Order: sequence, then structure tokens, then C-alpha cells
Amino acid sequence: MSPIPSSENLSVTLRETRSFSPSEDFVSKATIKATGYGQLIQAATADPEAYWANAAEELTWFKPWDKILNWNPPQSEWFIGGKINASFNCLDRHLTTRARKAALVWEGEPGEVITWTYSELHFQVELLTTALRKLGLKPGDRVAIYMPMILEATVAMLACARGGFTHTVIFGGFNAEALKDRINDAQARVVLTGDGGYRKGSWIDLRTQTDKAVAACPTVEHVISIQRKLAGQLRGATVQDSPEPTPGRVAHALLHDWHALLHTVTPSDRRAMGGPEPLDSEHPLFILYTSGTTGKPKGIVHSTGGYLTGVLRTTQQVFDLKDEDLYWCTADIGWITGHSYLVYGPLAAGASLFIYEGAPNHPTPDRIWAMIERHRISVLYTAPTAIRSFMRLGIELPRSRDMSSLRLLGTVGEPINPEAWMWYRENVGSGRCPIVDTYWQTETGAIVISPIPGALATKPGSATRPLPGYDVDVVDKQGNPVPAGSGGYLVIRKPWPSMARTIHGDPERFKKAYFSDFENGVYFTGDGARKDNDGYIWCLGRVDDVLNVSGHRLGTMEIESALVAHPKVAEAAVVGRPDEIKGQAIVAFITLKAVAANEVSGNPGALAALKKELQQHVTHEIGALARPDDLRFADALPKTRSGKILRRLLRELAAGGQISGDVTTLEDLTVLATLQKDEEE
Ligand code: PRX
Repeated sequence: MSPIPSSENLSVTLRETRSFSPSEDFVSKATIKATGYGQLIQAATADPEAYWANAAEELTWFKPWDKILNWNPPQSEWFIGGKINASFNCLDRHLTTRARKAALVWEGEPGEVITWTYSELHFQVELLTTALRKLGLKPGDRVAIYMPMILEATVAMLACARGGFTHTVIFGGFNAEALKDRINDAQARVVLTGDGGYRKGSWIDLRTQTDKAVAACPTVEHVISIQRKLAGQLRGATVQDSPEPTPGRVAHALLHDWHALLHTVTPSDRRAMGGPEPLDSEHPLFILYTSGTTGKPKGIVHSTGGYLTGVLRTTQQVFDLKDEDLYWCTADIGWITGHSYLVYGPLAAGASLFIYEGAPNHPTPDRIWAMIERHRISVLYTAPTAIRSFMRLGIELPRSRDMSSLRLLGTVGEPINPEAWMWYRENVGSGRCPIVDTYWQTETGAIVISPIPGALATKPGSATRPLPGYDVDVVDKQGNPVPAGSGGYLVIRKPWPSMARTIHGDPERFKKAYFSDFENGVYFTGDGARKDNDGYIWCLGRVDDVLNVSGHRLGTMEIESALVAHPKVAEAAVVGRPDEIKGQAIVAFITLKAVAANEVSGNPGALAALKKELQQHVTHEIGALARPDDLRFADALPKTRSGKILRRLLRELAAGGQISGDVTTLEDLTVLATLQKDEEE
């Protein structure tokens, strides 16, 4: 465990002196008024199992559970004996009252808009579940989803959930290598994909990446792909308009055209095979890969009943969605936010969701605000990085649009600096919309720390307090609570229903990563935090080697592995440095193999070309999100006597600039290392 990051460079004055009272943050529709908040917290703290069981009762169960919780750390089981289906809870149960209500309102970057009602979405999901069953898929089989942000991506997730096929969504920004590793780890039988998507006016090709990956994935039997580019008119067309199936292959796997395959599903097939599978509450709904400190990305496994309970309850509390709302979560489905608060939570709540495929500043920098105006969006949930980049473009852009439809603003994924918080509040929310800064993780499944709007005063930069039902604390190395004002480690002491169940195929790693730093089944988040005198929590960032770049979580080790796979690189150490927009930027310290070092030493042109080559190499191996911002070349990396790289020193260097002013030669970091060795050991 690393030392707690310091809070020195945070604007403590602004944070501590300004707070916004619940009355100022008033949301007329809030379910929980200020008066009820204390009681709610008290009741949930006194009996968390009863609190969560009450939340689970808001879902529709095919069979009620026999027992609420089995807790054998790190193993938790919730609502044991209960039978449930996530797609039924997101679709079928709304059909009596919301069949004609918009479930999804989609806008593409080129400008087209498509709306699907709950009934239409249900129909599409039934078709795909039937088609997958006809291909022989059984509950528990894994399906990889590698898709652009189109309506069918939601269909893909819900169709898997309906059949009990555990999905693993892989972010469209990952390239073939990263895709291959994830598909192989999950042992997926099917890949649901598309030919590509739109971003910043460009066509992002996915199929080439899929084809490359699948060739090295022996478990994949079928690839089902949406052909958007070749048949643009198919988007939004009914299945009957689709062409006849065109059989093909991707390496050893069968290739199906998405619409053509659905076209083969007859109404009687759909009636016989399109229904929701009654699944055990603990049935794995999905695997989502996320970065850790060591090794390959971890396949975080989430359950069905507990996960859905957590996301529905928190969706209701934090966003308080109503039938008249149009809610927009800007996350991609490839991340946990896209799972919990773009698909499962809001649809389980019967809400109308807005989905946008493309860049929020294209073709004009005010695209995001124009869409809020055009669609009358009422709740916006986005990342601090996005807010900071819009800040840079100036207040005229949001102010020139009518955003009176907005009533609530949320942030997620990284600490928000008070300045960005204030800008969001004043210029996007016109000073009247409450802000919910929501702290949580892939592993927690659902929001853990957040204000309940209308019930809790907010302070810019703090996610405020834990939601009811979570036993969160800030502790020292021994696990004792730290006094108010001191830094410590952010932990969750008791189990909660949406907690990750395991790491796919590696239960030992699950235990080691989250439950080995403290005793008695205490979960360690990997974050440092501080509690203030009011019990508010201020997240100070990761204390491990995980980076948070634009709200995207990246393991330094993954980037290092990609770099050392390059023939010219001998050794690499990757660290983060503070970045005004992205939160953190990626800095790689590199030692070169002898021949390469000779080539570039004293040759600025060759050094610049090599930097570019290595950046492209990482993009190719992982994806553009992992591309190092800075590359620094050294004769040797500073290490402890036992050979451990002095990362803290490298972090300081990355943040502070050069050691030698001459960037044409390799840096000599060993001198500095000698000075610091004893301290680190
Ligand atoms: O460091 C915390 C940061 O993001 C990490 C979790 O990343 P991921 O699993 O990708 O999930 C992101 C979306 C939930 C955490 O360990 N983090 C997330 N939300 C916040 C945050 N840091 C500060 N404030 C937040 N609101």
C-alpha cells in the first residue's frame, strides 16, 4: 500500500468554506426530503440487510429469496434462492404502463434521431435472445459485445441478460490486442459487433479489429455484426426491410449480418424462445474488465439480483427519475457507468434515456448544449474531464442555449476540482440545479458516496456522504478510523448487494486485491480519502499504480507491458502526472536496448521519431486512451537496492519537469535514485 496522496494542491479554502444547503439545492421531486434523511440513514445502519431487502422488493422476482445474505469474506451471496431476470425487470414489467413511452432516444453524430419505445426495445431484445438461443447459447455462456454507441448495443446487453448469457462489453476504443485478451479470458462463444461508428466526423472501424482479434480467439463460434456503412438505410429500418442472410466467416467463426439473422426469427420462434430465463439471484449478469495494479486487466464479475438491487435503489435516490424526465448519461457502454446508469438502473426504473453516438463538441463546440436544448434533457450525468474541457471553451456556449429543462447534474469517475464544480453549477445548471458528485467503482457496481439531492447539503469537490446501506470509513494502515481532517484509506466494512463477486477465473486475485489489506472482510477501494468535521468524504485519488485519465481507469503495468513488447525498449515505468483537463496524463520513462540507445543519443530527430513510434505502438497494442502523453528516455531507471522501481521519484519528476535541461540526451536518473533509495526502502 502506498502512502496517502496529499491534499495540498486542492483548493481547500473553497472546499471548506462554501457549502450549499439542501434548501438551496431544492429539487421539488426529491423522494427523500431533508427531514427523512437522518432517519433513513439510521435505519439502514441499524439493519443493512433489511434495508437492502426492502430495495430488492422493488424488483420483480419470479421466486422470492429464502435468505437475504450469506457472507463468507470475500464471498457474498444476496437474496439466496430468489429467481430473477434483469431484462424482464428493465422491459417486460414496464409494458403494462409504459409500452408507448420512449425508452431510448438516440442521436447520431451526423444528426439523425431515432426513438424506441419500451415496446419496440422489448421486441428487438426478444428477437436477439431468440436468435442467440437458436445458435445454441445456454445460460452461463459468455458473449462479448464490441459495439459503437448505437441502440443495438443496449439490445445486445439486454438480450444476453434475458437468456442468462453473461456478457462482457469491451470498449470500442480498445484495439485488436486488448479485445483478443478479453475475449479469450472470458472464453466467449459469440461476439456481437458492428462495422464501426462515428466520432469527430471520422468513421471508426471496428470490424477490422474484431476480425484480427477473433482469428486468435479459439472459443468464438459466431460473430454477429451490424453493417451500418454498407447499408446505412438499415439503421432504424424494420427487420422486414433487411436483406437476406449472407453467410460468411471470420477466421474459424461464422459471420452473421445482425439484421439478416434477426430476420430469420419467425413470430412463433420468438413466442417460443424469446422469453426471460428465470435465473438464480447470484447468476453472473456480466463480466467487465478493469485495470488493476498488476498483470492483465481483471474480469470483474457481477451478479443479477444483488447488482440490480443496488443500481435501481441508487438510480432512484441519486437521480430521482420520473416519467417526464429525459436522462442523459454520457458514458460509453464499455465502462461500468454505461452498465449501471445508462442501461440497467434507468431502464429498471422505467425512465427515458438519451444516447448520443459521437463527440460532444462536433461539428460545433456547443453540440452538447444544443442537444440538451433540442431534446429538453432534464438530468445530465457526465465526467469532470468533460466539464473541464467545456470550461475552456467559455461560458458563452452553454449560456447561448435554452437549458431550462435541466433539473439535476451529476459527475462521476474522478475527483472534481471545486472550480469545475462551480462552473458546472453556475453555467450549466444556472445556479439552480443541484450537483451530485458520485463516487463509486467498477467493483462496487453502484454509487457508494453521493448526496441525495434535496436532502443533503453539498460542498464543491466532495461526494459528500455514503448513501444508506453502505458502511464506509476512512482508516489508517491498521484499519482504525482516522480523526477528522486526516488522510487515510477508503474502505467499506460490510458487504453490499451490488459488490463484485469475484475476478473471472481468479478468485485468489480477488481476495488479494480487495480483501487482504485489512482484516475481518473489510473491502479496500484502492483510494485515499479524508473525512471532514461534518463526516463528508473527500476522495484524494488512487494510492496504487492505477491511473485515472479522463475518468478512464488504466493500469500502469498494462502500458508498461505494451511498451516493453516493442523491440527497441529494454525497460519501461509508467506514472501519472497532474493534468488540468484530463486529471492525469500518462508519462513513460524508458530505457532503450543498446543499439537503439546509440541511434538516438545526441540525435533529436531520431529521438522525436522514436517517441512517435512508441506512442503509435501503445495505441496499436491497447487503444488511443493508453497513448503516453510524454516519453522520457533514461540510461537506467532509478531503483531500490532490491530492484524495485522508485515510482514516487518518477511521479515527482513527471510532475516537476526535467532533471537535465538537455532533452537530446538520455536522462541520468541513477544519481537521483541514489539520494532517495534509503528513504524508499
Ligand atoms: O479513484 C476513484 C475514481 O475512479 C475509480 C474507479 O474507476 P472505475 O472502476 O473505472 O469506475 C469509474 C466510474 C464509477 C475510483 O477508485 N472515482 C470514481 N468516482 C469518483 C472518483 N474519484 C473521485 N470522485 C468521484 N466521484
